Amino acid sequence: MPFNAINPRIPENEVDSMFFDRWSPRSFLTEPLPPYHLKSLFEAARWAPSCFNEQPWTFYYASAQKSREEFLTALFEKNRLWAQKAPLLIFLVANKQFSSTGKPNRHAQFDCGAAWVSLALQARKLGYYAHAMAGFSQKKVIEILNLDPDSHEAMAAIVVGRLGNPDDLAQDFKQMEAPNQRKPTAEVAIGR
Ligand SMILES: Cc1cc2nc3c(=O)[nH]c(=O)nc-3n(C[C@H](O)[C@H](O)[C@H](O)COP(=O)(O)O)c2cc1C
Repeated sequence: MPFNAINPRIPENEVDSMFFDRWSPRSFLTEPLPPYHLKSLFEAARWAPSCFNEQPWTFYYASAQKSREEFLTALFEKNRLWAQKAPLLIFLVANKQFSSTGKPNRHAQFDCGAAWVSLALQARKLGYYAHAMAGFSQKKVIEILNLDPDSHEAMAAIVVGRLGNPDDLAQDFKQMEAPNQRKPTAEVAIGR
């Protein structure tokens, strides 16, 4: 796909373009996000719905060089290769226990997913792209953040930044650098 080309996704049904304008590139510019954009991303995530309004998410973020380098050590090599250019690296951590009772919160992961999408959509509103990753060491993240693994689980690593030039990517990543498609609506929404 050419640099900054128009998104080739064609929706099947009437829907706001924000839903198909979001995709997960691997080419990022290094340009840092100003603090007010950082705040705006987390503000969007803050308003996500959650079971009992528990808000079981915490976004640990690294934008400073030193903390980014430390966070990057937890990514699997395949992700680190392209993600290291992005100016913002986040670990989204779920608190797996309800704060009031200490009982397991079976919906914490679901709620973190809602918060991640809110952040990703807000990123597009601000002209950025967000890319979530599961390819990281859970153990390493828990160590870096000094968390209790019994009550906390890193759900995703996320990078955010402006879209870069795909020509700067290694060949195998460059080939994948395009918005992908989806299953038909009829396959995922079934009326009974
Ligand atoms: C929880 C989660 C984990 C993911 N893990 C990775 C990953 O480790 N590496 C990667 O390059 N992309 C990863 N992705 C990106 C997905 O491959 C991508 O979201 C999916 O193919 C849909 O494409 P789109 O986001 O461009 O619409 C992940 C996405 C999610 C939501």
